[in-house]
This record gives sequence, C-alpha cells and structure tokens, in this order.
Amino acid sequence: MTVTWTKKDLLGLEELSAAEIELILQTTDSFKEISQRPIKKVPTLRGKTVVLFFFEPSTRTRTSFELAAKRMSADILNIQASASSLAKGETLKDTAKNIEAMKVDIIIMRHSSSGAPHLLSRSVSPSIINAGDGSHEHPTQGLLDIFTIKEHKKKIAGLNVSIIGDLAHSRVARSNIWGLTKLGAKVTVCGPATLMPVGIERLGVKVTYDIREAIEGADAINLLRIQTERQSQNLVPSVREYAMRFGLDAEKMKYAKKDVLIMHPGPINRGVEITPEVADGPYSVILEQVTNGIAVRMAVLYLLSGVKERTT
Ligand code: CP
Repeated sequence: MTVTWTKKDLLGLEELSAAEIELILQTTDSFKEISQRPIKKVPTLRGKTVVLFFFEPSTRTRTSFELAAKRMSADILNIQASASSLAKGETLKDTAKNIEAMKVDIIIMRHSSSGAPHLLSRSVSPSIINAGDGSHEHPTQGLLDIFTIKEHKKKIAGLNVSIIGDLAHSRVARSNIWGLTKLGAKVTVCGPATLMPVGIERLGVKVTYDIREAIEGADAINLLRIQTERQSQNLVPSVREYAMRFGLDAEKMKYAKKDVLIMHPGPINRGVEITPEVADGPYSVILEQVTNGIAVRMAVLYLLSGVKERTT
C-alpha cells in the first residue's frame, strides 16, 4: 500500500499510523546518503523558512535540526526564549502569531510543558515539529532510535526492545513505545518502581523491576537518563544505589545477547545509567543514533514542507 504524507504537523508518534512511520523511515533511507557526500547540500527546501524555537537546553536535537535544514538549503531563524519578548510577558501564542505573520513555513519547538507544541499547532498555520515537550513525546528521537535499530536488524516486527531507567519523566520512552509497538516490536520497560508510571502496561509493554530479565533476550537496550531537572522529590534513594541496581555495566552485560544494540538518547550520565566501558564499547550505537538523527530530521522536514520533488 502506498502512503502519502497528509499531516500538517509532527507532534508525536501516538498519532501516526504504522504506515506513516514506515514512510518516514523509508524517506530517511534516501536522505542518509546526502550527509556522506563531500558537499552536503541539496536545494530541496530552498525558499522555505525554518524557525528553531527552544525553551529548554539541547545539544543534539537543536544542532541536528539546524544541520538538516541547512543541508536542504532552508533559511533558518533561531529564537532564544530568554532573549525574546516572552521574557517581557508576551504569551507563547502571541509570540507564535507574530512569527507566523513573518510567513515562516516550519516551527520546531522544544518546551518544558507537555502539550505546548499542540497549542501552537491549533493556533498558527506553519507546520509544527515537536522537538520534545515536557515528559510527553520526542517524536524525532523515537524515529531515529527505531531507524538505527532497523538499520542493524533489518526489521522491527518481532524484536525485543528493553527501555531501562526513568520511565516516569521520559518523553523519549513514550515516543519509542508508541513507534516500536505500532511496528510490531515487543517492548519491555524496567526501572525503579518510583520511576515507573502507573498503568504503563496499557501502552502494550511488559513491565519488570528485574534488570536481568530486561537484559536477557533483548535485541536492543535503550538506557534513559535520570532526569534530575524534572524530579520534584527524591524518587531514588541515591545515584550510587541506582547505578548499582539499574546502571548497565560490564557485569550486567554478561546477561546480554551477543548481538545486542546498546542505545542512549543522550545526554549520558556516565557511571549512572551506563558505565563508560559500555557506552563506548563494541555494542554501543549511541553515536550512530546521533548521525541518523540528521537524516531522520531531513526526512521529516521534507515530508512536512509538502515539497513534491526531491531535487537532489
Ligand atoms: N536526545 C536529546 O534530545 O538530546 P538533547 O537534549 O541534547 O537535544
């Protein structure tokens, strides 16, 4: 079945069909080669304006979107929330309306509040891409994780994927769960009970508090960062205890399959959720995830821009 892209925005993987996720993955395949060329530039988005609107710190997502847009010849506008009129009390909606009035095409937004990109989506006509909203979703991270697994394993359906760590605060986990389960993977989540959302089984995942069970039989293990900035209370007794019980180290790797993929969305707390020897070891695809992030974001920008011809 041939699927065409019809959505104005990319707000989350929850609202995408399996066919739409597959379309993004296939489009990513064709864009990946561009970043391997000596001259990494195509005219696909010439004349389009892309706005980066980040209210939270970011290294990977922001630079990756900026590089993706630049490699497609878009004009880029960076708006720092702290240096904009938001700091003078202007509402998010009013700021967005003013940006819209400047005839931009795509707004990429990261915000600490879940649902902030959805508010913009309803308020303004440019396409909105969610670059991470609170603890809700981070769709392009989910897509790049799934693309990286598929590149190695040649499929997603039937694979066992374990997500270990701070499930309660993780937008990366939610996007991975939606995307992976839609494509037929079996997802296991593991972490301290205090960091496990009530009712997460309803998303179609298996829950375990036994790290060995999460590691054994997994084709890919995605470690999540302990998000100290989102923890209002002490939800783990100590970082040291967390590392001992749930941190992935060489000792626990003895339970892993010989062809397991070790993944992490970054930024890594080295020595907490993963030891340096595992993060930098032979099973790690962490930096491949970063590389693939550019191709995934090029594919998303291309599909949302509604450009009919690739012109590459
Ligand atoms: N994975 C991720 O979202 O990283 P940044 O916070 O650096 O963008």
